[in-house]
Amino acid sequence: MPAISFQSVSKTYTTAQGPFHALNNVSLDIQEGEFFGLLGPNGAGKTTMISILAGLARASSGRVLVQGSDVQADYAAARRKLGIVPQELVFDPFFNVREALRFQSGYFGVKHNDDWIDELLHSLGLTEKANANMRQLSGGMKRRVLVAQALVHKPPIIVLDEPTAGVDVELRQTLWHFIARLNKEGNTVLLTTHYLDEAEALCGRIAMLKSGQVVALDDTSALLKAVSGNVLVFKTDDTLPPALAAQARITGRVVQMVAQDAQDIERHLASLREANVQVQDVEIRRADLEDVFLSVMAANTTGGAA
Ligand SMILES: Nc1ncnc2c1ncn2[C@@H]1O[C@H](COP(=O)(O)OP(=O)(O)OP(=O)(O)O)[C@@H](O)[C@H]1O
Ligand SMILES: [Mg+2]
Repeated sequence: MPAISFQSVSKTYTTAQGPFHALNNVSLDIQEGEFFGLLGPNGAGKTTMISILAGLARASSGRVLVQGSDVQADYAAARRKLGIVPQELVFDPFFNVREALRFQSGYFGVKHNDDWIDELLHSLGLTEKANANMRQLSGGMKRRVLVAQALVHKPPIIVLDEPTAGVDVELRQTLWHFIARLNKEGNTVLLTTHYLDEAEALCGRIAMLKSGQVVALDDTSALLKAVSGNVLVFKTDDTLPPALAAQARITGRVVQMVAQDAQDIERHLASLREANVQVQDVEIRRADLEDVFLSVMAANTTGGAA
């Protein structure tokens, strides 16, 4: 039985402009113990999927099961198995950190939870803030509390919606260390992130979503193989001629061009020289998940939500 099963899930929002199809027949199984990545550009439908999973939004059609429990028909059983770290920072301003975690334990009917709460505080670098009021925390610290809150009832399935947005490097490492440990101990993890290096390092399997549709779904290693090759990276103050610009990814002064082999690299450099483009700080790197992501998104420009 999969940990999470999305079965032909569609979601249509009613808006002033008419119906909006946020999810279009999404089917996806996440197995027990997986570290699964759900990637996609802003508005692709990732949070909508998680809201439906959490029982906060209702699918227009299809169904979602958590370890066999339907998120609508069997809400309480499904919800108890999930630890959800929401994308939006929501918290009760009247609690301090420890009280918030005790309250959340109570919500799930977990008693005498202080040992686990202490471990969570410690693992997330919150021990010193245990008695601080939620209002007094910085944005990154609030996010740590959200992670702790999600885990307070020891759910077997951990769902993280952009957990590292606005989080400093040190906490990111602490957080990933902790989540990786929980995954090793058997917990299933579903992660959405825009940090593709994190997804590449952590996720065994990845789904890419675009305009409410799954446009790629495979083992991370298989996705990476599909773009085997190198990327030529350089800086320039010159404008690339259209023929070259079409093959390049340009971010300000930084230009990246995919190159399969050394000949390809030489060809790119020769074309640049011919076009009188002065290149600086030339580097060659291996193609990574970001390159896969961009090529998958570029290949799926037509389909999707209306
Ligand atoms: N309550 C709502 N009513 C109408 N449209 C909505 C509602 N919630 C989300 N949408 C739309 O559905 C689409 C998917 O939104 P969603 O929040 O799922 O995207 P996302 O993939 O999580 O994006 P991001 O990376 O920005 O978090 C967007 O176009 C959004 O505007
Ligand atoms: Mg989102």
